[in-house]
Amino acid sequence: MTTDTASDTAPVLKDGVYYHQFDIVIVGAGGAGMRAAIEAGPGARTAVISKLYPTRSHTGAAQGGMAAALANVEEDSWEWHTFDTVKGGDYLVDQDAAEILAKEAIDAVIDLENMGLPFNRTPEGKIDQRRFGGHTADHGKTPVRRACYAADRTGHMILQTLFQNCVKLGINFFNEFYVLDLVTVKDADGSTKVAGVVAYELATGDLHVFQSKAVIFATGGFGKIFKTTSNAHTLTGDGVGIIWRKGLPLEDMEFFQFHPTGLAGLGILLTEGARGEGAILRNVSGERFMERYAPTIKDLAPRDIVSRCMVQEVAEGRGAGPHRDYVLLDCTHLGAEVLETKLPDITEFARTYLGVDPVVEPVPVMPTAHYAMGGIPTNNNAEVLSDNTTVVPGLYAAGECACVSVHGSNRLGTNSLLDINVFGKRAGRNAVEYVKTADFVALPEDPAKEVRELIEGLRTNEGTERIAVLRKTLQDEMDRKAQVFRTDESLGEVLEVIEELRERFKNVHVDDKGKRYNTDLLEAVELGFLLDIAEVVVVTAKNRKESRGGHMRDDFPKRDDENYMQHTMAYLSGDPHSSSPEDHIALGWKPVVFTKNEAGELRYPPLERKY
Ligand code: FUM
Repeated sequence: MTTDTASDTAPVLKDGVYYHQFDIVIVGAGGAGMRAAIEAGPGARTAVISKLYPTRSHTGAAQGGMAAALANVEEDSWEWHTFDTVKGGDYLVDQDAAEILAKEAIDAVIDLENMGLPFNRTPEGKIDQRRFGGHTADHGKTPVRRACYAADRTGHMILQTLFQNCVKLGINFFNEFYVLDLVTVKDADGSTKVAGVVAYELATGDLHVFQSKAVIFATGGFGKIFKTTSNAHTLTGDGVGIIWRKGLPLEDMEFFQFHPTGLAGLGILLTEGARGEGAILRNVSGERFMERYAPTIKDLAPRDIVSRCMVQEVAEGRGAGPHRDYVLLDCTHLGAEVLETKLPDITEFARTYLGVDPVVEPVPVMPTAHYAMGGIPTNNNAEVLSDNTTVVPGLYAAGECACVSVHGSNRLGTNSLLDINVFGKRAGRNAVEYVKTADFVALPEDPAKEVRELIEGLRTNEGTERIAVLRKTLQDEMDRKAQVFRTDESLGEVLEVIEELRERFKNVHVDDKGKRYNTDLLEAVELGFLLDIAEVVVVTAKNRKESRGGHMRDDFPKRDDENYMQHTMAYLSGDPHSSSPEDHIALGWKPVVFTKNEAGELRYPPLERKY
C-alpha cells in the first residue's frame, strides 16, 4: 500500500506506477465535471482528470442556449418547463427529476451569471431569452422564450466561465490523462466499493492510480458510434464503457438524439437557436413543411419529430439539391444583423464548410447524431446505481454520460447545458458530503494491472486489422441501419456487423509502438469502447418494439405504453468476449417515475404527443 504517504502534490512512484490520493476525483472536464469541481473543491481535496485540455471539452460546441423559466421577456414558469420536458421526452422522463431540473434551472443560470458568464442582455439589462424546440407557454399553447444564451456560443462561454472559476479555486487538473479503469473492490456481502481510478498519461505513457473516496464520472457522450455526428472526435464514450466493463448497468441506451440541423453531408451543428430566432425549414418546393406535421409550433417541434419529418420529406422525393437528399434551413429573412450578432458562428460555419452564405441563400441541412439520452443510471442525487435502486457508495455521474432520467426518450434543446449545471452541482455537493465521513477503500495489490494488460495487449498485437477501417465500417453501418428510422431487420444487420468487428478488433494493429503521445494506441482503446457501446445501443434498440422519442421503429410505428413505458436496463453478464450478444448482455426493466398532485392524480399523464 502506498496511500499513506501519497498526496496531491507528491505522487508516489511504485513499480513504475504513480500513486495519487484525493478525496474526490472527477473524470472529465466538460461542463458537468467542472460544475461539480466548483462545488467540491472548497470542501474536499479534488482532482479533475481529463483526456483533453478543459477548454477543448465538447461542452464548448453547444451553441444555442440553456433553458430556465426566468420569465425575463415573457410569462413563464418552472411548471411549464417541467411539462415540456416530460412531454418532449415522450413520457419516459422520470418526472421528479424533471421537476428538479426545471426548478433548479433558475439558480443554475444565476450561479453562472455570478461567476461572470457574459449572457446576451435585453435593452433593460436582464438576461435575454430566445425560443427553442419544444419549449412552450401554458402546456403547449405557443412557443416561449426560455433559452438564456450568449450568441450561438453558449456552451463555449459556460466552459470558459467554469474553467476560470476552477482555476480561481485552485482545483487540481490532470489534463491529457485518459482514465481507463474504475478501481472497485467487492465487499464480503458482494456490494461494490469505489477505491479510485487508473489513468494513462498521454505525454509519457505512464500509468497513474488515483485513490479517492469518491469518483464522479462526467465523461460526456458517445456520438462517434455514428458517422454523421455533431460530436467531436473525442466523444467515444470511454466513461460509459468503463462502467459497462465493470459490470454496472446502463440505462435507456437505445435512445439517441438526431439533431435536425446538421450541415448536410458533414453533420456539423447549426443551432436550433436559428429556428428560435425565426429560421424556417423548407423542402425542394420551398414549402414550410413543418406546418403540416406540427401545426401549432411548426419548426420548433422537438428534435425527434423534426428529424423524422425531414427524413420523410427526402424519402418521399421532396428533398432539395442535385441528389434530392437534404432539406433547406432558410435564414434569409432574418437579415444580416441578426445573423452576424446572434448567430455568428453558424453563419460562418455555413460559409466555411459549404460555401453557402445564410444571409442570402438557404443552407442544406439533414439530421446529425447529437446526444445520448441513455447512459449510467443515477438517482436524483447523481449517485450511480448498480440495479434499479441500489446506490454504489462514493460513485457519481452527471451530464451526458449519466441517465437520471431527465430527458426520457428525447431531450429538449437547451436542457443539456441545464442538466450539466444542475446535476453537476448536485454531484459535487453530494460527493463532498459523502467524503466527510467516508474512509478510503484499500487498493488491490496491483490496481493498474487491467489497464497495463489492455495497453500492452494492444501495443504488441501482431494483427493486421486497421483501426480506421474498423471504425469507419462501424460508423457507416450505424448511420445506415440504426439512425432516425430503424427496423428489426436493419438492427439485426448492424448487429451482425458489430459482432464481426468485435472479432476483428482482437487482431487490431497499432503502428506506433512508442510511449510518448501515442494517439494511435489510444484510438485503438477508444475503438474498443465504441464497439462495446454500439453493441448495447443496437441490442436495446432491437429489444424495444415500439416507437418513442428518438427511437423510431418503422416496423412498430406506435408508442406502446402498455408494454414499454419502462426504462431499459442493460447488464454485462457472462463472457464479455463471446461474439453472441445473448451470451453477454442481459436486459431488464425499470419503472418510470410519475408524480402526483395533491388530489393523488398523475400530474403529467402520458398523452398523445401533438404539437
Ligand atoms: O441547437 C443547439 O444549439 C443545441 C443545443 C442543445 O443540444 O441543447
